[in-house]
Amino acid sequence: MTTPRIVVAHSAEDAGEQVADIVEAALETARHGRRDPVLGLATGSTPLAAYRALALRRLDLSRAWAFALDEYVGLEAHHPESYGEVLRREAVEPLALDPARVSVPGGSSNLSASCDDVALDAACAAFETALEAVGGVDVQLLGIGSNGHIAFNEPGSSFDSLTRVTQLTEQTRLDNSRFFGSLDEVPTHAVTQGLGTVFRARRIVLMAFGEHKARAVAAALGGAPTQDVPASVVQLHPDTVVLLDEAAASLLPSRSLSPSEAWA
Ligand code: F6R
Repeated sequence: MTTPRIVVAHSAEDAGEQVADIVEAALETARHGRRDPVLGLATGSTPLAAYRALALRRLDLSRAWAFALDEYVGLEAHHPESYGEVLRREAVEPLALDPARVSVPGGSSNLSASCDDVALDAACAAFETALEAVGGVDVQLLGIGSNGHIAFNEPGSSFDSLTRVTQLTEQTRLDNSRFFGSLDEVPTHAVTQGLGTVFRARRIVLMAFGEHKARAVAAALGGAPTQDVPASVVQLHPDTVVLLDEAAASLLPSRSLSPSEAWA
């Protein structure tokens, strides 16, 4: 088993700079390989500092492909909290990504309530095909849910799972209700990349900031990999960097942090 490299940064901003370094290195590798880079983008609060750091570097991302992790099912078209819209505001426009090269599971706009199961399944399969067609993700950015989810793979998700429709747990809906007017407005279902989909990325960068993530981080990294804690799958990945702040790392057994890597 390969232990992920765990780095405790001074702050989310500091970690954001490190993510930007990692993305720049991936762009360089793709350039040397004469292929277009492929980025895996997360939504939510966690990656925002990284997107700000990347935007300030004014990298040429015009040839980059970008794939989102997930999307809610059932929001009206262009709802401001649909992940397609969030990604457009927080990443696609600030990083000058080409919108024609950005894919969100289930479609480029959010999935309407009228979308039937057959259409959703077809959209999930098309997303997997599109990912394969560009050669897979070079760097996948991930946040972690307070219940240990990554993307919207809730506890119990198979490590082999692919892009699919999933039911959100009450904990996840409650956590995400801060983006909506009330808990009732938070969708009950989403389309998500599977853990098997995420795992195919050549490099994974898992980020977590704040005390409210400490338990999930300890569960994901402090014990053996288990489907009860979806994020623990990163322990099995050959190239994962975990970027934490001190609060998020506070419940990790100290043996998880090698002295040379504990502090960035
Ligand atoms: C978002 C995603 C989720 C979030 C997680 C943490 O695309 O896939 O797994 O990363 O719910 O959310 P934040 O960052 O808002 O705490």
